[in-house]
Amino acid sequence: MSSTSAHPGDAAPSLVIRGGRIVDATGERSGDVLVVDGRIAEVGPDLSGDVVVDADGAIVAPGLVDLHTHLRQPGREEAETVETGGRAAALGGYTAVLAMPNTTPTIDSAGVVREVLALGRSAPVDVHTTGAITVGREGEQLAPMAEMAELGVRIFTDDGTGVQDDRLMRRALEYASGLGATLAQHCEVTSLSEGTCMHEGEWSSRLGLPGQPAEAEELMVMRDIALARMTGAKVHFQHLSTAGSVAMVAGARSAGLAVTAEAAPHHFTLTDASCAGYDATFKVHPPLRSDGDVAAIAAGLGDGTIDAIATDHAPHTPETKELPFDQAPPGMLGLEYALALAFTELVDRTAVMRESDVLAAMSWRPAAIAGLGDHGGPVAVGRAANLVVIDAAARWSIDSSGGASRSRNVPYVGREVRGRVLHTVCGGELVVSDGEATR
Ligand code: DOR
Repeated sequence: MSSTSAHPGDAAPSLVIRGGRIVDATGERSGDVLVVDGRIAEVGPDLSGDVVVDADGAIVAPGLVDLHTHLRQPGREEAETVETGGRAAALGGYTAVLAMPNTTPTIDSAGVVREVLALGRSAPVDVHTTGAITVGREGEQLAPMAEMAELGVRIFTDDGTGVQDDRLMRRALEYASGLGATLAQHCEVTSLSEGTCMHEGEWSSRLGLPGQPAEAEELMVMRDIALARMTGAKVHFQHLSTAGSVAMVAGARSAGLAVTAEAAPHHFTLTDASCAGYDATFKVHPPLRSDGDVAAIAAGLGDGTIDAIATDHAPHTPETKELPFDQAPPGMLGLEYALALAFTELVDRTAVMRESDVLAAMSWRPAAIAGLGDHGGPVAVGRAANLVVIDAAARWSIDSSGGASRSRNVPYVGREVRGRVLHTVCGGELVVSDGEATR
C-alpha cells in the first residue's frame, strides 16, 4: 500500500484498489476500484485516490461472509473474543461473520443479542449474530425469536446441538417462517451420538474410540427435509459431513424445497484417519468422516448442492485441547485457512470448482442466505465497499500459531496451501493491508 495526498482534517481519504482482476457474481473483468466514504465510487481503468492499494495480478472480490463463527463472547473469553475472532476473520478475507449462539449465557434473548452486536461494533468486520431456537439451547422451550428478529437476527440455530424434538422443531419452523427468518440446524440425533467422540468406522474400531454413525446426522437431515416440506419454512443445514446428507439435500432441492446447506473446510480436507494419533485437535462435531464422505462433500460443493463453505471456526484453549481425546471439547479453527484450503482442495486437488465458484460459495451465496445486502457484491458503483484482495498464486505453509485467534487448535499444521489474503476492506476501511491487520 502507498499513501499519496491525504491531509489531516480531510474527510476520510479515498482508496483506490489498483490493477486487480475483479471477480463477482456478474463475472470477471480487470479494473481499478475507487472507494469513497465507505462505498464504491467508480470501477474502471486508471483511477486515482488518496490511498493506493496494490492489487496487481490479484483477485479483487466481494468480501467473504462466514455463516458459522464461534466468537465465544460472552463467557469464554479465554478461548476467543469478538475482537480477536473479528481480526482473524478480516485476515481470512471476511467482511462479515455470523456468530453462533452457544455462548455463556446463550444468545437467546434481545439482551444478549444487543451485547454481542455492541461488541461487534468495534471489530474490524461486520459482526452479525444468530439467536438460539430454544431457551438455553436446551431443546425444551422456544426462545423469544420475535424480539431477536426485531434486532435484525435472521438466522436461528441451537448450534452445538440439534433440536431433537420433532414437534418443537415443527413449531419453531412455523414461528420462524412468520418472522421471515431461517432455521439453521446442527444435524445430530443425540440418542445415536451421545458418548461418541469420532466417526464410527474402521478407524474408531482400530483406535478403540466410541464412534458416531453417519446416520446420527442423516436422520435429522431427513426429518428436517420432511418438516420443511410440511411447513414451507426455510431450513439451512449446517456443516454437513456425510455422503448421505448431500444426496438427501440434492433430492430436496430438486423437489423445490427451500433448503440450503453449508460445509466446513475440515470436512472436505481431513478424514477420520487424522484421529490416529489421539490428538484432540482433530476432534470436531460432526466428526471427520471417511474418504467417501470427504469426496461427496467436495462433489456437493462442486455441483452446487452445498451452497456455502462456512468455517465452523471453533476456538478452544490449549489446556482443554490437551485433554484425552474422549474428554476434549470438539472444534477447530478455520477463519484464516478456509479460502486457501478451498483453493487447494477444491480447485487444485479435486478440480470440482473454479476460483470463482469458491468465491461464490464463500461470499455472495452465504451473503444471500444470511440476507446481508451490503455484502457479497457485486463490485459496482454505489455498493458498500466490502472487498477482499487475494494473491491467488501465493503458496504458504500453515503453522501452529493460530494466527490472530486466542486459541491454537489448528488441524492443518504443515499443510502447503495456495491463495493468500493481501488486503481486506470493510465498510471502506482498509482493515488488512499487505497481509497485516491494521487494528
Ligand atoms: O466441533 C464443534 N465445535 N461443533 C459444534 O457444533 C460446536 C463447536 C464449538 O462450539 O466448539
